[in-house]
Amino acid sequence: MEERFKQILKRENEKYNLISRKSFEETFHFLWRLSVQIAEELKPFSSLVDIGSGAGFPGLAIKLIVPQARVLLVEPRRKRANFLQLAITELELRDIEVFRGDFFLFHKEFCNRSFDYLTCMGVRKKESFVREDCNNIKKGYCFITGEKEVERLLHHGKIKKYNSEVKKVSGKDNLFLVIIHRNGKDNCNS
Ligand SMILES: C[S@@+](CC[C@H](N)C(=O)[O-])C[C@H]1O[C@@H](n2cnc3c(N)ncnc32)[C@H](O)[C@@H]1O
Repeated sequence: MEERFKQILKRENEKYNLISRKSFEETFHFLWRLSVQIAEELKPFSSLVDIGSGAGFPGLAIKLIVPQARVLLVEPRRKRANFLQLAITELELRDIEVFRGDFFLFHKEFCNRSFDYLTCMGVRKKESFVREDCNNIKKGYCFITGEKEVERLLHHGKIKKYNSEVKKVSGKDNLFLVIIHRNGKDNCNS
């Protein structure tokens, strides 16, 4: 599956410029290994929503790594959302959907559908994705982010009341996983 996904991404990347063309192989393999690491850290989980999936990392890659998981990919940009849908169709995947919209539209429309985890890489202001007015993220959040952002996130009022852990991303000195565990702190108003 890794190889098939790589071929589809490589082909579509020529049209859409989804990830670096110059260092395609290196970037793909780094993002794939990172997705493996995230899947390992979050296990066990049965569902996940990925905000700002872009070229499919980490959400689509995690679906390929943990095929039994139900996955939602949230992506506002039309071409990227179309690419994600095309990859899903060509890879003949089930229990995975693309939602074309941003986080706020997702939050509004998916309040009644729960997910074990929310993942997000490469989108700013990730703390705004931690919400208590809708209890649809059950286990927690995994944000992939740089060093400066780690401190900011951990000290943010919305996040500091939860148990969080920070893991170094293998092969990159300046990239980290911030895993925020909800641990049953479900202040549901919905
Ligand atoms: C820098 S790219 C990262 C893509 C992918 N997650 C990765 O790391 O390879 C950020 C993506 O998030 C999307 N995005 C930006 N703001 C967003 C928001 N508020 N909600 C959902 N997606 C968003 C953009 O369209 C873009 O595809």
